[in-house]
Amino acid sequence: MIHQRRKAKKFFEGFSGIQKIRSSSIAVAMLIGLSSATNVSAADPGMEELKKVLEGQIELMKPELQEKVKGLSVDTKMSLMAILAMHNRYSQTVTMRQVMTEVLSDFQSILAGIMTDNPEQTADSARRLANHRIPVGGLLPYLGLENISDERLAVLDGFNTSVEGNALKLAAAAEAGDMATAASLVGPISSGCVACHGVFRTQPGVSDLLR
Ligand code: HEC
Repeated sequence: MIHQRRKAKKFFEGFSGIQKIRSSSIAVAMLIGLSSATNVSAADPGMEELKKVLEGQIELMKPELQEKVKGLSVDTKMSLMAILAMHNRYSQTVTMRQVMTEVLSDFQSILAGIMTDNPEQTADSARRLANHRIPVGGLLPYLGLENISDERLAVLDGFNTSVEGNALKLAAAAEAGDMATAASLVGPISSGCVACHGVFRTQPGVSDLLR
């Protein structure tokens, strides 16, 4: 948890005005808890935007999910916000399955770029993957109510680092003309996909019309 929190803080360092939020656990709790009172500075478009996104996501959730989300620890909320902060494409309609299909296309495009020695396609696809769309309502509605706990969600940050952190590294390597390093990062990215699916997903498309 301490490690996770440190990581979240590290992500947040990129935001101007984040000191204010970071210095107050209550501020984060309020941010997620939909309280109208907030000490987020209105002069900070980054945080204001993130706050609106989160409020919007929580508003869309059914009461039983809202309750669970509000009950999460500050550490968990911080790490969720850190993940969201790495994205700037939010969909009003698209589901997690649709996002995942798009992510798979970007992943395949990375492979095509590597296999054809095309650093531009490789780097662009990797950046697109790292900044994948966030589905309507955020990630939590798609993870299952039973997974909305501090313990279960603690693994999310690690999966995010393996997929998105390595995708950004892969993009940088491709841009530097180092396609061997780019290729070596394909494995760690796919391990992140597989690990997350192992925790939060079952076999896709299982029919309940089979015995
Ligand atoms: C944060 C955890 C997480 C990570 C990381 C992740 N996925 Fe997923 N993925 C899911 C979940 C959850 C579902 C099931 C969503 C649903 O059915 O609503 C899913 C579903 C999928 C599906 C099936 C879509 C369908 O039609 O049912 C594909 C394909 C997929 N992911 C590809 C990927 C690829 C490729 C990566 C890595 C580049 C990846 N995922 C990384 C959580 C993750």
